[in-house]
Amino acid sequence: MLFISSSPCGRKFYFLTNLWVIPGSAGKLSSISMKTEVGPQCLPERRKSMFEDVQENREPVSSVPELADHAVGLTVDSEGGKDLVTFTFTLRNPKNSGLSRAIKIFEAFEAQIHHMETRPVRKGQSGSDDLDFFIRCEVHSSSVNTLINSLKRVAEDVSASKEEKVPWFPRIIQDLDRCHHLITKFEPDLDQDHPGYQDLEYRERRSHIASLALNYKQGEPLPRVEYTTEEIATWKEVYIKLSTLYPNHACKQFLDAFQILEKHCGYQADNIPQLQDVSNFLKERTGFCLRPIAGLLSPRDFLASLAFRVFQCTQYIRHSSTPMHSPEPDCCHELLGHIPMLADKPFAQFSQELGLASLGASDEDIEKLSTLYWFTVEFGLCKQNGVLKAYGAGLLSSYGELMYSLSGEPQYRAFDPEITALQPYQDQTFQPVYFVSESFEDAKSKLWIYASKIRKPFSLRYDPLTCSVEILDKPHKVKAALTHIWDELKNLCFALDKLS
Ligand SMILES: [Fe+2]
Repeated sequence: MLFISSSPCGRKFYFLTNLWVIPGSAGKLSSISMKTEVGPQCLPERRKSMFEDVQENREPVSSVPELADHAVGLTVDSEGGKDLVTFTFTLRNPKNSGLSRAIKIFEAFEAQIHHMETRPVRKGQSGSDDLDFFIRCEVHSSSVNTLINSLKRVAEDVSASKEEKVPWFPRIIQDLDRCHHLITKFEPDLDQDHPGYQDLEYRERRSHIASLALNYKQGEPLPRVEYTTEEIATWKEVYIKLSTLYPNHACKQFLDAFQILEKHCGYQADNIPQLQDVSNFLKERTGFCLRPIAGLLSPRDFLASLAFRVFQCTQYIRHSSTPMHSPEPDCCHELLGHIPMLADKPFAQFSQELGLASLGASDEDIEKLSTLYWFTVEFGLCKQNGVLKAYGAGLLSSYGELMYSLSGEPQYRAFDPEITALQPYQDQTFQPVYFVSESFEDAKSKLWIYASKIRKPFSLRYDPLTCSVEILDKPHKVKAALTHIWDELKNLCFALDKLS
């Protein structure tokens, strides 16, 4: 019997059950754009769509730490444009050049053979030298059918099956150190429309603050930034302008949290709050924590962090010449727009559900989830006591769009993930349509149903005790999770009995 197992590209392969995990793969990358502007009159032409960005920002895969305990019974995506295919076929009298002809076919199609195995064809079915072959290899997607046809010329009973690849995703919170892929085209060093493009001092300052994030490792204290007088003045202008709008335009959850942030987290016009203080506050309220990021993050990486209740946050501030506009996310957008909502438990749960849905999802599903994120977490509206209110961070950190979104001028539609996920979005001007959620609980329920339809070969469960995601690929794992829920239920029933 012939048995070959190889490790192409220098990568190792972990054999588990009957599947293989390939360390050395990362999720395909896509992009999402951020907008904090003033009005359509000063806006440049719209850039490309998020869907185009997704295609453009694909990056080569990077290596995965070789940790056997990360490996599960999944085939993790390795190379773009290639399929993992298992071939089975029978060679009659392979000694008569059949074997070399078959192998040459695989060579001709540049197939990387991961595993090859043979066994004699059962007696009575053929001659004594006939062999059944099992070959698992990586081959260019466009070559698969031709390879099959070529193989049929030298072998019998040829069959092939493609394996489903799953993009790499973090399993434990420390894996977020690998979720740092940036979309750099809106940065002041590259974007000529950026207000700081010609300000070398600003670019150096932004770069310095960004470097703090680049060196950060999960679990370390968050870097503290000593903001300059000019930076605080920019913050002050934004803070005063927006905070006067909040009482009439922001939803109740935002207002409640904003009050507490002003009281306990240094939210003041003349002080830019530190991420560590804000992170401590969120941890106590909803279990969310912050992580510094050097710029605009790819949607896959950003959504993945939400799965672990981690919000990736920029620390630099926009250019002082345009306090009401930034082409990229900055601390005004994060601290004023996002943080108050993350202090609300149902909203925090909604955000985590979006993140969990993204883990291991295809590029196409990441695009849809990014769009859902865009029209909810960034630009979502809700109805409270019959009145439209804003809860999206892109609105609550943008004077112009906050006013516009509630003016009655744009279209309003009920939040429906199936429809919202396909809605084209605007990253250079106001949205033509806004989606209205009845409540975050309602939005979460709808999202959960939507996420359950996303095609994945596995189910996930987040374990808050270990800050990890467990892949429920074995009955005993599901049983253990159910036992945990059952214990919780018993505890709650006991509490209810005591109260009654
Ligand atoms: Fe944002």
